[in-house]
Amino acid sequence: MAESEALQQGNAAADLGFLWDFWYPALRSEEIRGKRLATAMLLEVPLVIGRTSDGRAFAMRDACPHRGIPLSYGRFDGTTVECSYHGWRFDGCSGQCVEIPSLTSQDKLKVERIFAGHYPCEERDGYVWVYMTAPGALPAEKIPTVPELAKFGTRYKKTHLFCDLPSHVDHGIIGLMDPAHGPFVHQSWFWRNRGSIHEKEKKFEPIPKGFRMSPHSPSTNSAPYQLLKKMTGAPVTTTIDFVLPNMRTEIIQTGKLWFSSLTTITPVRRDLCRIDFIAAWNVPLPVLIFRSFAKTFLRQDQETMIQQSEGLKQNPKLMLIDDADRPAKWYFALKANLIEERRTGQPKPHPMDGPVTLHWKS
Ligand code: FES
Ligand SMILES: [Fe+2]
Repeated sequence: MAESEALQQGNAAADLGFLWDFWYPALRSEEIRGKRLATAMLLEVPLVIGRTSDGRAFAMRDACPHRGIPLSYGRFDGTTVECSYHGWRFDGCSGQCVEIPSLTSQDKLKVERIFAGHYPCEERDGYVWVYMTAPGALPAEKIPTVPELAKFGTRYKKTHLFCDLPSHVDHGIIGLMDPAHGPFVHQSWFWRNRGSIHEKEKKFEPIPKGFRMSPHSPSTNSAPYQLLKKMTGAPVTTTIDFVLPNMRTEIIQTGKLWFSSLTTITPVRRDLCRIDFIAAWNVPLPVLIFRSFAKTFLRQDQETMIQQSEGLKQNPKLMLIDDADRPAKWYFALKANLIEERRTGQPKPHPMDGPVTLHWKS
C-alpha cells in the first residue's frame, strides 16, 4: 500500500472520540411500523432499522455489501431486505445474504457467506437500542443487557423527549453534568431565578464506570421539590448517577411517590449529538405539564449549545475549573481509562479514590 494511501486510511479511522461497544438509542420504537424501514445514524454509522413480522427489531449498516447503495431504498417483506439495485436479499436479523437473483446454476458463489453489516438490536422503554461494535470488530461474545429506566411499580405516567445538539458528544455530556449553568441558562418563573444562587455542598462517590451524587435532599431553592415535600411529609431523596458511555439516571423518592428519569447523549456524527430523555413517575403530575416544563429546559440547553458551537468552530482553548467542573474532569478521566483498559487489557484505577464532597454556587 502506498504511504499516502496508508496515511489517508489512518486519517479516515482517526479517533473521533466515540466509545464503541455500548448500547445507544437509535430511534423511537414508534418510528418503525409494519414493514417500514427507518434510518438512523450512530457514531457516524448509517443504519437501516426495521422490525420483522414476528416482532424482532433489527439494525443493519445502511449500505449494500455489493455496491454500497443504502439498503433503506430497498424493500422489506417482514423477514428479508431486498436491495433496490440488483435485488440481493438479506435476512434482517442476521444480515446474511439469502438470494442473489443474477446467479445461474453454473455459479459457485456461496451466497450464505455474504453478510450485510449488522448490529445487535433490542427494544426497551420505547427506544430501539443498537449495540455499536467498533468498525470491523465482531460483536462481543457477551453483550451487556440493554439499559433500562428504573420503575418502582406498575402504575405510572411516562414521557419521552429528545433534542439535537450541534456539538461533539463530549460537549453534550459535560453540559449535561454541569451544575453551574443552572442559574443563568434555566431562569424560569417556575423553577428559580438568578438571585437564588447560593452555595452548595454535594457528596459524590465512585461507581463502576461512573460516579454517583449520593442520595440527598435536593436544593431548597426549587419550587417543585418544596411541593413534593409538603405533599408526603416524608423526606425527599435524590440519587443521580452518571455512567459511561453517556447515561445519567435520576431517581427521586419520597414516601410511596417516585420519579425516575434516564437521559442519554448519543453521538450521531462528530459534530452532532442527541439528548434522549425518558421519565416515569407516580407523583401527581400531569404529563402535559411535565412535558412543557421539560421542553423549556431542553430548549434552553439547546439554544445555549447552538451558541457555544459557534464559538467552538474556532477551536478555542478551553478550561475546566474546580469544583464545578470536577464531574466533567471525572468523565474525561473515566473515558480515557476505559480506552486504555480496552487497549491493554489491564484494569485502571477509578479516577476518584473514594467519596468526595464538592462545593459550588448555583
Ligand atoms: S448494490 Fe445491492 S444488490 Fe447490488
Ligand atoms: Fe441544562
